[in-house]
Amino acid sequence: MASNDWRKSVVYQIYPKSFNDTTGSGEGDIPGIIEKLDYFKTLGVDYVWLTPVYRSPMNDNGYDISDYYEVNPQFGTKEDLKELLEQAHARGLKIMMDIVINHTSTSHNWFVESRKSKDNKYRDYYIWKDGTEAGPPTNWESKFGGNAWTYDDKTNQYYLRLFDVSQADLNWENESLRKEIYEMINYWIDFGVDGFRFDVVNLISKGEFKNSDGPGKEFYTDGPKVHDYINELNRNTFGDKEVMTVGEMSSTTIDHCLKYTDPKRNELNSVFNFHHLKVDYPGGEKWTLANYDFIELKRILMDWQVAMDEGGGWNAIFWCNHDQPRIISRFGQDDTEENRVLSGKMLAIALHGLKGTPYIYQGEEIGMTNPKFTRIDQYRDVESLNAYSAMKENGMTNAQVLDILGSKSRDNARTPMQWNKDRHGGFTTGEPWIDVAENYADINVEAALEDENSIFYTYRKLISLRHEMNHFTYGSVIPHLLKDDALFVYDRIYNEETVTVIANFRNKSTPFPEGFDTEGKILISNYGDKSTELRPFEALMLYRQTV
Ligand code: NOJ
Repeated sequence: MASNDWRKSVVYQIYPKSFNDTTGSGEGDIPGIIEKLDYFKTLGVDYVWLTPVYRSPMNDNGYDISDYYEVNPQFGTKEDLKELLEQAHARGLKIMMDIVINHTSTSHNWFVESRKSKDNKYRDYYIWKDGTEAGPPTNWESKFGGNAWTYDDKTNQYYLRLFDVSQADLNWENESLRKEIYEMINYWIDFGVDGFRFDVVNLISKGEFKNSDGPGKEFYTDGPKVHDYINELNRNTFGDKEVMTVGEMSSTTIDHCLKYTDPKRNELNSVFNFHHLKVDYPGGEKWTLANYDFIELKRILMDWQVAMDEGGGWNAIFWCNHDQPRIISRFGQDDTEENRVLSGKMLAIALHGLKGTPYIYQGEEIGMTNPKFTRIDQYRDVESLNAYSAMKENGMTNAQVLDILGSKSRDNARTPMQWNKDRHGGFTTGEPWIDVAENYADINVEAALEDENSIFYTYRKLISLRHEMNHFTYGSVIPHLLKDDALFVYDRIYNEETVTVIANFRNKSTPFPEGFDTEGKILISNYGDKSTELRPFEALMLYRQTV
């Protein structure tokens, strides 16, 4: 990115399949996004990121690309995409595309060719290995369950696929492959897109192919040549352009993320990491029912905040995306309307004071909740369906498994956007590809816009504060009370002025921390005033001159 302005931006993430359907197909489309561009302006965001809309068999909802140059017909046409860019730009909005370059669909022509014979021109675009006596080349586990290698009897070898069987990992060692990827990215830059989110980009460099004592992550996470590859990608594509980039980093480290985002190294602008969203994975196990560990949540968030601030790196900051359950149902409380609204605003305030680029996932700004599905036939996600079978095979009851999915499944975030109280929440006139959450009549955009006290206006205010005040972008980060069991507190200091963010994560009152300076002008709060104590889920930002 040539200039620095992107640092003040806020990004809105769209999951197109669940956003807005204009054809009655039951699946969202690009014209549906165009229809809502003014909504993003009302909210005040700068960038809109679309998860993949390329041609794909949609086994993983677009993260299995079969043609990087085509738009999936179910989303519309390339002309629709052009129109989206034009209409967005006319409103001062920027569009980010999702780029999946760790793997392609096995329906991609490269893979179709690659699997034909060992001497095919495209063979080496993917990672093929002979089996061993034990079967697959290594014991690595796929992130979607099972072994990470799939046997292909055509050539009697296995291909690596860290995700679904239909998502074959690309071989970045191959120079022609890398060139084709750069060409493709340049095509989209020329097409007019303003930014890219790179899917699991820290997995592109595979190291040694050896057995592991665990799932195998140490052999391909932040692998040996990953920084070289990303630097090469940068130099050959977006490096000198006004294009904002964010890399999705799986199981990464602060040290690597400082490197990925160090402006002098010419890699990426910013990074997503997920450590703070594993605080309800006891012993690292996602498929469990567990309360989240609040102290650990603060520790992780603040370790990253301080280290990235001091080291000159840049975080993406977020609670939600299409892979995570809804945050109110997770770290807040969705049992009553009062709790939903209070905890939703609290979570927004707690996050949006942090340093980095805030991401808002569709529906988060109106406080959408997990849908509380009660039957397995309501789920669509490949990872969740695999986990369902695995848990059942391990002897869990249907009810137990459904409880776990109800709390952890990615489909919790993928239910259709709730626009109004019409049938299916106004998302489609047809039958939605996945059920709409039953609370749509109460929780929807129309209702949120009409109510000046809705969660929507808290998000809007937070975005405008970030645009107006440099503290959020440039201020240093000073954490406080890391051992406190209820309060999340930190300062953002800039130009001898302090913004203090205080959030009570508990649904009970708690005194203001002793000896702590709580004076100052209220920039935003979810109760509207200040009391003698912090009320349930109370959150506020206070501004004062630093003495
Ligand atoms: C991360 C994406 O966010 C997720 O949805 C996808 O399943 C995997 N990468 C594989 O592409």
